[in-house]
Amino acid sequence: MARRCFALFTIFVFAIVPHIQGIATNDQRAQISVRSSPFETALATLQKQIGYNFQKTGLLRRSMTHASFSEENNRALSILGANVIETSASLRLLEKDLEISAKELNRRVSELSKVESSCAADGLRLGLHKVVRVSPKTNSTTPLVVCGAFRAIFGAIAIDVGKSDDAGSYFWGVHGGQVGGALAM
Ligand SMILES: *[C@@H]1O[C@H](CO)[C@@H](O)[C@H](O)[C@H]1NC(C)=O
Repeated sequence: MARRCFALFTIFVFAIVPHIQGIATNDQRAQISVRSSPFETALATLQKQIGYNFQKTGLLRRSMTHASFSEENNRALSILGANVIETSASLRLLEKDLEISAKELNRRVSELSKVESSCAADGLRLGLHKVVRVSPKTNSTTPLVVCGAFRAIFGAIAIDVGKSDDAGSYFWGVHGGQVGGALAM
């Protein structure tokens, strides 16, 4: 009797376990596909390039989302980002030379935040045109789209850290040696 019970139990186990395993594997597969979607992979790479790991990755996701793609987009973050960059640049220039003229300060700050020559160039160097989500009709390589995404990164960092100064430091890290003489400091 006991032996028969055992045999039945064994059959039961062999019949049921593969199903359980099948379910578990499907679950894992679902998790893996969420984790490694091309967009998520690009965001992970981007964080390495910037040298900053977001606590709230939703902020980075939003900064890589153009207004043509969804209501939840990077427009407001890019305004904060532009201000972060300009403030940080003004601070550095004045720290270096308190006697700098207002005209010169303005010239150098606006040089740095120019869409075409500086901002979009930095964004293209990071490959943002390949990351930013846009509507099918929108060209993600245009300077305004790339620049908006680039600025939004630093707005997003400022929100994530709760400090605009820190976001400014990450900007200089990315902007690095690519100052084109305008802001060699
Ligand atoms: C997208 O924009 C870039 C930069 O302005 C331009 O060089 C490229 O030709 C555009 N692509 C299309 C398909 O319009």
